[in-house]
Amino acid sequence: MNNDFLPLNGTDYIELYVGNAKQAAHFYKTAFGFQSLAYAGPETGVRDRASYVLVQNKMRLMLTTPLHSNSPIADHHKKHGDGVKTLALMVDDAYQAFEETTKRGGKPCLEPVTLTDDHGEVRMSGIHTYGEVVHIFIERKNYNGVFMPGFKKWESEYNPAPTGLLYVDHCVGNVGWNQMNPWVKFYEDVMGFKNILSFDDKDISTEYSALMSKVMSNGNGFVKFPINEPAEGKRKSQVEEYLEFYEGEGTQHIAIATADIVTTVKALMSRGVEFLKVPSSYYDDLLDRVGPIEEDLEPLKELGILVDRDDEGYLLQLFTKPVEDRPTMFYEIIQRKGAKSFGKGNFKALFEAIEREQANRGNL
Ligand code: FE2
Repeated sequence: MNNDFLPLNGTDYIELYVGNAKQAAHFYKTAFGFQSLAYAGPETGVRDRASYVLVQNKMRLMLTTPLHSNSPIADHHKKHGDGVKTLALMVDDAYQAFEETTKRGGKPCLEPVTLTDDHGEVRMSGIHTYGEVVHIFIERKNYNGVFMPGFKKWESEYNPAPTGLLYVDHCVGNVGWNQMNPWVKFYEDVMGFKNILSFDDKDISTEYSALMSKVMSNGNGFVKFPINEPAEGKRKSQVEEYLEFYEGEGTQHIAIATADIVTTVKALMSRGVEFLKVPSSYYDDLLDRVGPIEEDLEPLKELGILVDRDDEGYLLQLFTKPVEDRPTMFYEIIQRKGAKSFGKGNFKALFEAIEREQANRGNL
């Protein structure tokens, strides 16, 4: 493979702008099993925001809320509700990442900067992507503090057990009509990603609605960003519903890997996470469709876990309902057993389940 001009070591953190970070942090601890890691706010000298950083295995989630109405964070929240602001990526050299991406047309959102404290230095820079989402490049090889300068360790006496979530598998963006290919080109030209899979409206359509999707991957496959756009259907597609209620383009779902989906989903459900349900008939001919699997069918059926197979193996997956009142962002829980794909065989059953939810909301 030729020279990767933007080597990435994975997702460093994902930041959500939310209406009440203190309460959102409680939700992600209680329901998803994230652990308290770091905090920044008035107590650490930050005047305009409070940020809570949570961790579970290799996944870090930052929840940020504005402290005043006169703030870009407040503007963002007023428009979009809770949603992803930052998809931060781990790099060896944040200054070089900025140079390489901006010279290829990336629009800067953060000029390269070095933050230091007693634990070393974190270098960072950033560029804009679709909607109001940004990619921040984080270089932390010379840092051994809890998160990064400006944050203090967040000590909490409330520490619910983890649920087996391991790392970010992929993050999906919803973009507007005819905007998928321009953003595919952005990831190719500016970030050196490759289009590894494509789905058109024939793959992803039900009686009512349709979408198109292209999966972009960086060189080593550690970072994958599928990009969706709506397609013409009889009714409003799920991507259109998202765009309407998010009031623009944004991150649709974050897929989190587990090594034991049955245990993880059981734990999440018992802690109040709500999942989409497919009809039990999905399981009637499942093994005919996907071939032999190691798991017992009964728990999969009971929990509503979906299975799909590709040339390299199979995967198990399940999707939450949106985690806000707006029908916008949700999570996917995924366990890969060789498969590198995204569950195309489940699209129809899944989208019918989404449409039932859309109909309940009066948005179909
Ligand atoms: Fe996904």
